[in-house]
Amino acid sequence: MADELRNSIIIVGCGPGIKSYISPKALYNIKKADILVGSRRLLKLFPDTSAKRIILEKNYKLLLKNIANWSFTRQVVVLVSGDPCFFSYTKMLVKKFGRESCIIIPGLSSIQLAFAAIGESWEDAVFASVHGRSSGYAELVKKIKENDKVAVLTDKVNTPAKIATKLIEAGIRKRQMFICENLSLPNETIHETDVQSAVNLNANGSSVVIIKNPSD
Ligand SMILES: C[S@@+](CC[C@H](N)C(=O)[O-])C[C@H]1O[C@@H](n2cnc3c(N)ncnc32)[C@H](O)[C@@H]1O
Repeated sequence: MADELRNSIIIVGCGPGIKSYISPKALYNIKKADILVGSRRLLKLFPDTSAKRIILEKNYKLLLKNIANWSFTRQVVVLVSGDPCFFSYTKMLVKKFGRESCIIIPGLSSIQLAFAAIGESWEDAVFASVHGRSSGYAELVKKIKENDKVAVLTDKVNTPAKIATKLIEAGIRKRQMFICENLSLPNETIHETDVQSAVNLNANGSSVVIIKNPSD
């Protein structure tokens, strides 16, 4: 059973990292925070709030306990990158506190920016993530074999080059790869390449990789 809260928690999608992509509704809710929880990077986007800032680290168990306690007297707002309902700890918060205790403010996902950057529609895409999941390659390879357009979230270890290496090992060579790095940020780069060339690509920033069957 979900733990009971006094005040709902507000989970705010902060988009890809630049403030102009954060919605007015998200900003309005962030202003209401007594306690603002988020990564260092996201907290830095809001230097002007008077809220107490809690840096989100890996100690989720303690954080969940603290959120429950804080919620009795204060408004807790949790910042999430991109959209809260796409590969984020929203799932953990909703599981712990229940849907009725969580108010979720959508944000612009890195996926949306990536497809916009390469001028492709995404209603026919499927999604995967190797962010923090070095064990996710078997599932990723299966998705790529079965689908013509796959968008993948990466991280500093599970890089676009590593994905390309895994594809070659699985015998998949005939795909375009679009590597969309640091979207919306001043160092944004978009590379269009093939699987073989991507093996040597040095891209270990925050990136979304779109893998497309050229016959599609
Ligand atoms: C934990 S996931 C969160 C995804 C997020 N909820 C969303 O909707 O974009 C973090 C991953 O999203 C992707 N990402 C987030 N911001 C990005 C950006 N500005 N440029 C490229 N990729 C980004 C990267 O793959 C990063 O490792």
